[in-house]
Amino acid sequence: MDLYEALEGRRSIRRYTTDPVSDAVLQKLLHAARLAPSWSNKQCWRFIIVREQSRKKKLAASLPDGNPCKRALAEAPVVIVLCADPQASGRADGKDYYLLDAGLAMQQLMLAAHAEGLGTCWVAWFEEATAREACQVPLPYRVVALTPLGVPARRPSPRPRKELGEIVFHEEWGNA
Ligand SMILES: Cc1cc2nc3c(=O)[nH]c(=O)nc-3n(C[C@H](O)[C@H](O)[C@H](O)COP(=O)(O)O)c2cc1C
Repeated sequence: MDLYEALEGRRSIRRYTTDPVSDAVLQKLLHAARLAPSWSNKQCWRFIIVREQSRKKKLAASLPDGNPCKRALAEAPVVIVLCADPQASGRADGKDYYLLDAGLAMQQLMLAAHAEGLGTCWVAWFEEATAREACQVPLPYRVVALTPLGVPARRPSPRPRKELGEIVFHEEWGNA
């Protein structure tokens, strides 16, 4: 799949079939993730692959009831837990770059998943302590995000994006 096709076609998927995800495909996705750029190439990210139903349910329990992806975590055949060590990345002007490093790797994984016909959904609204406990994640690692991974049961229509004129300036702030 062409990169632009993947960028256009990816959606946040919140309903999954029970079709399994093979280890071979999973390896491809994790390889795509590890190719991401990172602060000083420190690669502060770690990924936990969860297939056990009981553990997926524990992870789902870390989401508040209002989170629209809660059900998907127990439904999808795989959940990926994105962790990162803040001390292994950089900090400049009060900005913690471990979130950026981890986010870039996860997004590469998600685009590769889409190219393989699989769905994902960023989940960042969850209680970290519960997710940490579910997968025994040690400090100083932070649990940055989760995603379900599996075959989409339905494909939502695209969500709107702001016009470029609203988000792009030329030379100086405000020059549309
Ligand atoms: C950092 C981040 C956190 C997100 N957290 C959640 C979440 O907790 N639950 C959820 O259902 N979707 C979550 N999303 C998905 C967004 O709602 C979704 O990307 C957005 O509505 C655009 O839809 P699209 O991904 O289908 O283009 C998150 C996305 C990002 C980038």
